[in-house]
Amino acid sequence: MTRSLLTQANERRLRAIASTADSQRRAFEQYLTPPETAAYAASMFNASSGNAISCLDLGAGSGMLSMALIDRFGAEITLTAIELDPVLARTCSDELCSTGVRFEMLLGDALTIELKDKFDKVILNPPYSKMAAKDSRQELLPVKCANLYAAFVVLAIKSLKDNGECVAIIPRSWTNGDYFAPFRNWIFENASIDWMHVYDSRKEVFSDTNVLQETMLVKLSKRPQRHTIKVTESHGKNDAVSESNYPANELICGLKRKKVVRIKPAEPSLISSMQPLSELGMLASTGKIVDFRSRDKTCSEPGPNCVPLVYSCNFSKEGFYHPVDAGKMQWYRCQEPKDEKLLIGPGAFVVVKRFSSKEEQKRIKAFAFFPEAPIALENHQNYIHCGTSRNTIPLEKETAKGLSIWLNSSIIDSWFRSVSGSTQVNASDLNQIPTPSTSQLRNLSTRWTAKLTQKEIDIICEELINE
Ligand SMILES: C[S@@+](CC[C@H](N)C(=O)[O-])C[C@H]1O[C@@H](n2cnc3c(N)ncnc32)[C@H](O)[C@@H]1O
Repeated sequence: MTRSLLTQANERRLRAIASTADSQRRAFEQYLTPPETAAYAASMFNASSGNAISCLDLGAGSGMLSMALIDRFGAEITLTAIELDPVLARTCSDELCSTGVRFEMLLGDALTIELKDKFDKVILNPPYSKMAAKDSRQELLPVKCANLYAAFVVLAIKSLKDNGECVAIIPRSWTNGDYFAPFRNWIFENASIDWMHVYDSRKEVFSDTNVLQETMLVKLSKRPQRHTIKVTESHGKNDAVSESNYPANELICGLKRKKVVRIKPAEPSLISSMQPLSELGMLASTGKIVDFRSRDKTCSEPGPNCVPLVYSCNFSKEGFYHPVDAGKMQWYRCQEPKDEKLLIGPGAFVVVKRFSSKEEQKRIKAFAFFPEAPIALENHQNYIHCGTSRNTIPLEKETAKGLSIWLNSSIIDSWFRSVSGSTQVNASDLNQIPTPSTSQLRNLSTRWTAKLTQKEIDIICEELINE
């Protein structure tokens, strides 16, 4: 694409952004790709072999990605663009008309339109919203998709000819967690992950439409998994790109049907040979009290049948405090026997915050927690115990102390960042964490105090993995 064509496409895109109300943008997820990212996405396809190339743009918006394809491969390609919004579809048509390319603009829902042909290349920046299990379009897909973007990627792969390639601009959330496991497994069976490009900055890629998403570009091809996966990384869309190539089995790893996709291999150290937490007879679960759904049971003062309601604000560097004045109801009233089933304790647990801000130094914040009576744990925390998903059983006190030191280490922080681009720590992520044996955790516990500094924690854990 000539510079002027890119500029022209961007001008049309900016006009489309300016004339779209925020409410419409949010409803249809019209976060249009900036030219730098579109050009980078198009550059990820293999070079043309000289034959005619058929391309598909799913959720084409104002046509930025189609234009980047024309830029990369010339106006000889044929293009099919699908867009739900008639106004953007018209903009996209006008844009493509001006290039002289042979194209077809299909107006409608990409997930229900029947495509007669298969394509050499598919490009997409799909909508990112959740997809309900009972959405009738699920039945048209070969695998249940938790999110529209996963459904679009499945459709993209299904629309490819053998050895065809697809480049998608999508969130990083599919790479780990139970939620996307069926989608990942379908990808592993039906495509090869060839190249992943990740951005270090959350803000930059869609800065002109205020999207705060961990975004990545992924190139998939319709063939068995290649032996090597390329991973490139840049801070934002205009910054220098670093490149690495890794054996696929070092990035696609984990237990059968629970495999995750990493962006760099695990450290070649003792940690990679450690068992996942859930294989050591422990389990991470999510706090069972959703406060806004239990308003009739939460209260600011204790009364009959009340137990402490525990939030992350009850934990500090100095230890556990309850009640605290932090704008949160501090008590939970058990009104019926089933409420008591939601309580945990007494005993020993490790509580882990589920959310951190991007700016916080550590993703995982763990607290050894020893309630002397039953408590209600609010849903923004996970807790580790040694029972099952239905039956909480406390840990040994020593195990809880040792585990809290291990989870707070910088070793685990960098492990977590290599498998998850999210600031959210799910129970399923915790269950996969490489964990020292129970006897090693007991040894660690001898060094435990509630007030260990980060430096002390890191020295203790380095000693453990070097012993
Ligand atoms: C994130 S925007 C990306 C637009 C364009 N591909 C780009 O990169 O600039 C997603 C686009 O998908 C369209 N869209 C949303 N749901 C759709 C659906 N079910 N079928 C087709 N297009 C859809 C939206 O209107 C929007 O234009």
